[in-house]
Amino acid sequence: MSFTRRGGRLSDRQQAAWDAIGATHVLDVPRNGISTSVDPAYVFEATATFGRQAPLVVEIGTGRGDALVHSAERHRDHDFLGIEVYRPGIAQTLVTVQHLGLDNVRMMIVNAAEAVATMLPTASVHELRMWFPDPWHKVRHHKRRLVTPDFATHVGRVVEPGGTWRLATDWEDYAEQIRAVIAGSAEFDGGAWEPRFEERPLTRFESKGLAVGRTIRDVSAVRRTP
Ligand SMILES: C[S@@+](CC[C@H](N)C(=O)[O-])C[C@H]1O[C@@H](n2cnc3c(N)ncnc32)[C@H](O)[C@@H]1O
Repeated sequence: MSFTRRGGRLSDRQQAAWDAIGATHVLDVPRNGISTSVDPAYVFEATATFGRQAPLVVEIGTGRGDALVHSAERHRDHDFLGIEVYRPGIAQTLVTVQHLGLDNVRMMIVNAAEAVATMLPTASVHELRMWFPDPWHKVRHHKRRLVTPDFATHVGRVVEPGGTWRLATDWEDYAEQIRAVIAGSAEFDGGAWEPRFEERPLTRFESKGLAVGRTIRDVSAVRRTP
């Protein structure tokens, strides 16, 4: 499964960034067995972590961190939590975070499904972003996809009323699945195809999809006010 994929060597630059700011910027969480799990009793406290109260943006599957850092640099009055299981990707994120001197970014090595199910407090997230979640192309692997009705229920719990869930994918039948999940959700309004989110930089991953002629779908949904 994707969330156990952590490996790969770090470059010297990545290792240096990890040594310099890993202890402060990659949050240590109590585990529940495997290294990407989180103890279901653990609850993330954004105010204590960032030392202030600010709108919290959570990005799931940050990859090399391009989109996370791009937004964090432009919105210093927001706090950004990146959730990723791929260590070299986190290390690369630290390289740019250190270079730009951002103190409104923290990373976590946690399986996102667990993060939304138990770790993030109710109505604590201003915006939840998922850029190109693993599409799991083969039909027999579709059950590994993150965006399902159950996942949407958890996202509905953690996103504050009026808050936003944004996604993009380059895989057509996953785009249809995402749209159907949002349409069927009691917690969210939205789900139409939208123009490209203007704040999302073009990552390597997106460029590769475009190069082979894929259509990129952006979708967002707003958390209903109960
Ligand atoms: C296709 S890549 C996209 C990366 C990045 N968002 C971009 O646009 O370039 C998907 C990312 O999600 C991460 N990922 C997959 N499953 C995950 C999970 N269950 N929890 C956290 N991260 C996950 C992968 O490690 C990978 O970096």
